[in-house]
Parts: sequence; structure tokens; C-alpha cells
Amino acid sequence: MLAELEKLKTEALKELAAAEDAARLEAWRVRYLGKKSELTRILRGLAALSLEERKAVGASANELKAEIEQSLAERQKALVQAQTERLHRAAEEFDITLPGRKPLSGRLHPITQTIHEICDIFTAMGFQVVEGPEVEWDYYNFEALNIPEEHPARDTMSTSWLDFKTEAGRPMLLRTHTTAVTARCVETMRPPIRVIEPGRVYRYEATDATHSFMFHQIDGVAVDRGITMADLKGTLYEFARRFFGADCKVRFRCDFFPFVEPGVEMAIECSVCRGAGCRLCGNTGWIEILGAGMTHPQVLQRGGIDPEEYTSFAFGMGIERLPMLRYGIDDIRLFYANDLRFLRQF
Ligand code: DAH
Repeated sequence: MLAELEKLKTEALKELAAAEDAARLEAWRVRYLGKKSELTRILRGLAALSLEERKAVGASANELKAEIEQSLAERQKALVQAQTERLHRAAEEFDITLPGRKPLSGRLHPITQTIHEICDIFTAMGFQVVEGPEVEWDYYNFEALNIPEEHPARDTMSTSWLDFKTEAGRPMLLRTHTTAVTARCVETMRPPIRVIEPGRVYRYEATDATHSFMFHQIDGVAVDRGITMADLKGTLYEFARRFFGADCKVRFRCDFFPFVEPGVEMAIECSVCRGAGCRLCGNTGWIEILGAGMTHPQVLQRGGIDPEEYTSFAFGMGIERLPMLRYGIDDIRLFYANDLRFLRQF
């Protein structure tokens, strides 16, 4: 029996030294100190022994129990300490005081920002933002706007046609101007109408510093009783003051667009030379930024609005030109190249 205890002790201590984590330590405890352990069995069996034996074995067994309980406690302490040391070493390798790398934060594209800014100005004046399709019927892009087939104005807007005809045989295209949305609005909305229509437009053209096959425009139209040229001028002048600054000077001159009568172009005073003439404004002192006019009676009529009862003004402008003028950007292609060094500046 005593030899058995001795063997148990050697075995237990050897296994304890090999237990490297809390789970194995617990398994060890159950095995050597648990209710079903060899030691417990021996202690329970003491009563059956002779007095002599009971004394000797009982003393040894209890001694062994105390000894392995203490070994367990020591081993537990040693493991905790080792763990703490590991953590400290890890903390030295990773400098937790080092500031983290900042993730890149996104931002809106300068064109989107400009569209938002223009929309804010016009919505503050009571206009509503409307969008139309980029793949458009020939009808809304041209016909409804007084530009029939064979009309020379079609040549000035190099068109990307889709190479299929719809069931009704009506040709489709990529819209060449957002004025197509104006044609849709006068057909689907009833006066009083005040809408602005931002979006992409397409021209079949070679790309260079000032041309792109895709760019952005914003059109606007107001239809109501008694609308006059004074409303057109007042609205667009106010827009220019809010966008370019309160001291912005504007100039209106006659121009021709098939869908307005009379038609005008609006220019702002060149911000570089203040009207004196420079390279940017081609020595004129003025920079044209939009076309406008009183909506042609036929355009209203085609939309089902009686031009005897209602009058209307309309306008349209390119968007890229505005940030180009404001920030002195000399190449339109920069907007579409996705170069973060450029885009990050806005
Ligand atoms: N759609 C014209 C263009 O792309 C611009 C324009 C001129 C729009 C006069 C209008 C307008 O609404 O009234 O050149």
C-alpha cells in the first residue's frame, strides 16, 4: 500500500509539471484529487485496515494529499505568472501608444458638389429638382423642342444614336441636353411649374481639354400665368449672385435656340480680369455661362399647356464650366480621371 502511494506521488507530480493550461490543470485535479481518484479510494478504504496499517497508510495518504494540493496551488500560480509575462512581452513588441492609421474618408465628387450647390440655390427660390432618362426618345430631345429632322440645330449637337429602333419605330439616342427633361415636364406637369433638371448629357465628339463625350448640364423651366422676361432675368441674376458672389455682374445678349423665343445668353464678368480682357475670357471681359429664353409657344402647346393662358421661361447651362472657372481648372478630363490627387482638393 505504501509503495502504491509512493508510485502515485511520482506519477502525479510528473503529470502536473506537464500541465500547461487551466483546462489540463483541472483535468489533473479531478484525476488525482477528485471523488473517484485513487487517493480518495485509499483514504476511504482505511477503515477496513488493521489498526497498525491504518496508522501508517493513513498518515502517508494524508501527507500525500496535502503535498499534491500544495503542488497544484504552486503550479496554478506559476501558470498565471507565465501568462502575465507573455502579455507584457507582447505589449513591448506592439507599441500600443502608436497612433493608428487613419482610414481614407470619402467625399463627394466636385461635379456632384456643384450640382448640389446649384440645386440648393434654386430650391431656395421655390424650384423642385426633377430627373429624366439619359437614354431618350428622339422626340423629347429634338421634336418636342422645335428641332425637327433636317433642322440644322441637330448638326450642332453631335448625337450618339442607339443602333436599334423601338417597336413603334421611334429612334432613341443618348440625350444631348437636359432640355429634354423640360420637354417631359411641360407634358406631364401642370402650371404652376418650377423645376430644375440636373444630369449627364452626351455628345459624339473627340475628347480634349475643353470637350468630353459625356458631361453634365442643368436645365430649368418655370411655367405660370404672367411670367415675363423680367422673371427670367431676375431669377438668373440672383442665381449668379448667390453662386459667384454678391458683386457678380451679368450680361444678357440675344441668342437663338429653337425652343425659346426670344432667346438669350447670359455671361458673367470675367473673374480673372474683372472685365478688362484676358486669356480666359478671350479678351472680351465676359464669360458665357448659360442659354435661356421665353419658352416657345409651340413647345408649351405640344405639352398640352395653352400658351395664350400661360407663359414660361427656360434656361440651361453646362456644369463642368462652373468649378473650372471658380478654381481655375484648365482641363475637363481631370473630372473623369479618378485621380485622388485632384479629387482630394475639393
Ligand atoms: N440646351 C441648350 C444647349 O445644350 C442650352 C439651353 C439654351 C437650354 C436655352 C435652355 C434654353 O433651356 O432656354 O446648348
